[in-house]
Amino acid sequence: MKIIHHTNDFEEYENLDELSLADKQLIEEAKLAANDAYAPYSKFHVGAALLLENGTIVRGNNQENAAYPSGLCAERVALFSAGANYAGIKILAIAIHAYSENFKNHPQAVGPCGACRQVMAEYEHRYHGKLRLIMQGEKEKYIVSHNVNQLLPFMFNADNL
Ligand code: THU
Repeated sequence: MKIIHHTNDFEEYENLDELSLADKQLIEEAKLAANDAYAPYSKFHVGAALLLENGTIVRGNNQENAAYPSGLCAERVALFSAGANYAGIKILAIAIHAYSENFKNHPQAVGPCGACRQVMAEYEHRYHGKLRLIMQGEKEKYIVSHNVNQLLPFMFNADNL
């Protein structure tokens, strides 16, 4: 037996001003999307904004349901919307913003759930490109990952089929 070391480099930005204009704009879109989330049960609002290769921004937010599992996360709403409305156009980046009606500041980073990471992996594979992900870190900080592989080591994708 040997240990396989799997390390990843993420970028951490101290505040919004450290980010590029393009990233800032995408975060702003994710914030706007979060305001429109339908989250009457969890009170946890999530917004996602995608930047497509043609410059289009696609927004999504969590859509909850009285039958809880029928709801969907913001990231997948945005990704499936892009898949449906902009088929074949590469997705370059996704920004995610979340806030809770129950508390003010986020004590920890808010990353995408496992199922959303799996869907991101599918689009990355489909478009043969890397998906940049901008997420909230602690307090006002932001964390950027360069591809889904960083978030989903040993992932399952079409290469396994
Ligand atoms: N949620 C998202 O929209 N994205 C995530 O990555 C994690 C969770 C939503 C689902 C549900 O509406 C609420 O947040 C609480 O889990």
